[in-house]
Amino acid sequence: MSTLKAVRGTRDLLPPETALWNHIEAVARAVFARYNFGEIRTPIFEDTSLFARGVGEETDIVSKEMYTWEDRARAQSEKSQSLTLRPENTAGVVRAYIEHKLGETGQLQKLYYIGPQFRRERPQKGRYRQFFQIGAEVIGPPSAGSESPLRDAEILEMLATLLDELGITGWTLQLNSVGSSADRARYNEALRAALEPIAHTMCADCQRRAVTNPLRVLDCKVPEDQPIIEKLPRIVDLLDPASVEHFAAVTAALDAAGVPYTRNHRLVRGLDYYTRTTFEFTHGGLGAQNALLGGGRYDGLSEAIGGPKAPGIGFAIGLDRLVLTLQAQELNQESAPPQADAYIAPLGEAMNAAALSLARELRRVGLAVELGDGSFRLKKSFEAADKTARCIVILGEDELQSGILTVKDFSTGTQTKVPRADLAAFLAEPSK
Ligand code: HAM
Repeated sequence: MSTLKAVRGTRDLLPPETALWNHIEAVARAVFARYNFGEIRTPIFEDTSLFARGVGEETDIVSKEMYTWEDRARAQSEKSQSLTLRPENTAGVVRAYIEHKLGETGQLQKLYYIGPQFRRERPQKGRYRQFFQIGAEVIGPPSAGSESPLRDAEILEMLATLLDELGITGWTLQLNSVGSSADRARYNEALRAALEPIAHTMCADCQRRAVTNPLRVLDCKVPEDQPIIEKLPRIVDLLDPASVEHFAAVTAALDAAGVPYTRNHRLVRGLDYYTRTTFEFTHGGLGAQNALLGGGRYDGLSEAIGGPKAPGIGFAIGLDRLVLTLQAQELNQESAPPQADAYIAPLGEAMNAAALSLARELRRVGLAVELGDGSFRLKKSFEAADKTARCIVILGEDELQSGILTVKDFSTGTQTKVPRADLAAFLAEPSK
């Protein structure tokens, strides 16, 4: 019989690496709290039409990467329904915003999320079919200031702070504006027209995209196509005056705050809901999948899925890619194997029950304890303890009766007799 494995594009995350994941999530939560964001948790699956209408039917995500199935009705009162594992979280957050009438508070909603997303992409380093995002959205009625360019700048400044606090060095903020949805549509047509006579000289993907989704031609990485793409029309030349002004205000605020960025005219992003500001933070160490995170403004998304006018801006960080970057930077000391304060070695199986009771005593006062097994010979207990804990505590019949335990500290090599009543305090002292 063949051995079962994790499904292609999915992975198990094991200790000690999970400690690094937890560390990143804790830093992100702490940064979000300082910017007054609250956590939202939306379902892992949603009605398929949410993504079709929100992210866009023509996008790669919706047209070929979603995990979609027909959920059969279980009772006459139910209808069968097309469901989809969420490929991203922005549409779900905006759906929740509409469903819970969060706009009626009149306040900006500042929401963050951490969780798995699913896309049937071709797996490679930094690209998985189940991956994790840390994201945030700022959304609200225009009266709450949701259209202000200051919101864009604040989000970008927060991201720069978060990456700095995580110790990520060498990131680049790529910034662009895709204008209003009318600007975007005009640009799409301009590209289509410009590509028509030349597409046949380009790669097969570009030839296809020139017809189906000309904006995606800008993502092409084939070296021979680059000189052609550089000469294509640029969206900056088609922006309406209000979008130009908005973008200028965003960059002025970034300049004032000292957040560095580069203008990337080709950054149009792969989701249809974007308007005006779009951005990515890239990192050279990531190889082909170099986007650490991406985001932008989506002033029409709420209306596209049947809600009130609720402009917004947000981002999602690829947590898998953040982990890869930190690992490459060797900043992952946090992920050293977890070391317990003590390993309790019962001498003989008859001591097992007493050892559990001692472990309970120590764990209840906050110590990390690894509980051995009385069936081990002492040598084996020592070997196991040396790998997992700072000290070994030996518990035999004599120790139990006398209440005096023998503790060996591996880092100093010293052996000490400690009364049981003092044991917790002794173990809590880091070795000298
Ligand atoms: P996105 O650019 O599709 O945007 O994804 C954001 C980030 O998720 C990417 O930059 C990348 O780091 C990570 N990512 C995407 N696909 C994969 C994958 N297959 N494997 C590993 N990592 C991946 C969004 O998802 C938008 N919802 C962002 C947003 C929020 N825009 C506004 N608000």
